[in-house]
Amino acid sequence: MPKLIVSIESSCDDSSIAITDIDSCKLIIHKKISQEKLHYRYGGVVPELASRMHSKELPTLLDSIKPYTENIVAVAVTSEPGLNVSLLQGITMAKAMSLILKVPIISVNHLLGHIYSPFIEKISFFSHYSLLLSGGHSMLIEAKGISNNKILINSLDDSFGESFDKASKMLGFGYPGGPIIEGFAEDIDDDKVNFTLPLKSTNKIAFSFSGLKNAFRLEVEKNIWDKHQLSYSFQKACVNHIIDRIRYLFKKNGKTFSHLSIVGGASANKTMQDSMKEFLSKNSLQHINIDMQYSSDNAAMIGRVAIELYKSGIFTDHSSLESNPNGYSPFL
Ligand code: KG4
Ligand code: ZN
Repeated sequence: MPKLIVSIESSCDDSSIAITDIDSCKLIIHKKISQEKLHYRYGGVVPELASRMHSKELPTLLDSIKPYTENIVAVAVTSEPGLNVSLLQGITMAKAMSLILKVPIISVNHLLGHIYSPFIEKISFFSHYSLLLSGGHSMLIEAKGISNNKILINSLDDSFGESFDKASKMLGFGYPGGPIIEGFAEDIDDDKVNFTLPLKSTNKIAFSFSGLKNAFRLEVEKNIWDKHQLSYSFQKACVNHIIDRIRYLFKKNGKTFSHLSIVGGASANKTMQDSMKEFLSKNSLQHINIDMQYSSDNAAMIGRVAIELYKSGIFTDHSSLESNPNGYSPFL
């Protein structure tokens, strides 16, 4: 009889469930309902709305697991980090399922989920650099598995994706801003605005996007550039900043691993991908490809981590499981 894990992701604005086979790592079911359209006009995710949508969508999605309930041996759920009211919807659902199905709960860190996203439906995992670019985080991580991961570079302020969301808002457009700014930048190939790269020529091993965001606002207010030109230069500066700091880190501390992956919703950015691939090949590093359907938030990546935690016997019971909006505990 196959042993299956049902996983739930509701940390932000995507309601998603998956069923994964523990031995083969194969996905049996993967469903996701995105709320992007709902949040578009607010320029960002509205927690109360997101939570309400999860309470509506998650039960609909969970209906599809009925044929598999006999083979489910654990319920996995994202418990941190994320929006508290969103996390709680998935957690409440997981607790109810654990009691009804009489199976343990596996509490999963969302960032660890992103780290494992290139390894969905793959049995083996290997240590590598994981560049996590999402709406909430911008980090370069020394990724080693379900523990001993280390953040090598973190953002001092805004995240990469968030800075695109704010830039889009400044131009009068909605959420998510990443694809909007990337779309405007598409037809341009000369950097007329020429933003200064954050932290360039400093010895800070960090990312920072708030200065770029303010510079972008000032250029918008000048009323001399069109939105395509602004978007092109802004995107170029954000991407080059990430690469500049990683280059500095490797120069200072050397390289430990041979592979790097870009994960998280903002990894969809084509300029980021192309520039990183060029940088990696110049530095004798290899890029780990990711199926782009798993770059943004999803339950398949939570299920993939849960397999590792299941095999290591790491479970939580329903009375001790809590949401941890800023937590990193099972991750580091
Ligand atoms: O990982 P994700 O789906 O949700 C979080 O955990 O935050 O990432 C969403 C973020 C948003 O900020 C969105 O604007 C950004 O990813 N994003 C992009 C692109 N597509 C999505 N940023 C830059 N370029 C893109 N093409
Ligand atoms: Zn995410």
